[in-house]
Amino acid sequence: MFLESNTGEGADHEVPVSIRPCCEADRVSVMELIEPYVQQRKILRRTFEELEELLTNSFVAEMGGKVVGFVALEVYSAKLAEIRSLVVSIHCQGRGIGRRLVAACVERAREKAVFEVMAITSSEEFFRSCGFDYTLPGEKKAFFLQTRTDH
Ligand SMILES: CC(C)(COP(=O)(O)OP(=O)(O)OC[C@H]1O[C@@H](n2cnc3c(N)ncnc32)[C@H](O)[C@@H]1OP(=O)(O)O)[C@@H](O)C(=O)NCCC(=O)NCCS
Repeated sequence: MFLESNTGEGADHEVPVSIRPCCEADRVSVMELIEPYVQQRKILRRTFEELEELLTNSFVAEMGGKVVGFVALEVYSAKLAEIRSLVVSIHCQGRGIGRRLVAACVERAREKAVFEVMAITSSEEFFRSCGFDYTLPGEKKAFFLQTRTDH
């Protein structure tokens, strides 16, 4: 489902965007893509090693041979996985790429029979549009407590 191409409106929007698993050869492009959002403190900085650990469950959006989006699904257990390092190039935002990257992660979680997928984010409306919500069924809520302040 999420591997199909997508077209939008306008000249640039006619270039198809494909969502595919991330591979080692993408690491430099991904680091470059992430960097501005790290500077803006929207996502955490990643080392090459951390990126490599996330590779098995990561996806890129590719347009005209260029990486324009990235997301990783970090699987903690059979119960829980987290959407990490979601970014879409500023020039390509607002055309459904972010949503397709999240859908790829949710699909991967389903394949691996992971029960819940979470996201810690300030992009609240975006995640709502992807079907996420603050509460869990049965009026349960997720609570967090930080053991350190250096992150
Ligand atoms: C958040 C982000 C990944 C969204 O990517 P995107 O490709 O622009 O999102 P999409 O085009 O798939 O948008 C899907 C929906 O979310 C909405 N949306 C996207 N970004 C939004 C925002 N910042 N505020 C409100 N709504 C937003 C879109 O309007 C769209 O809804 P619609 O289909 O009803 O119009 C992108 O804005 C980004 O890279 N932001 C900087 C990094 C970041 O904050 N990452 C999240 C860390 S968890």
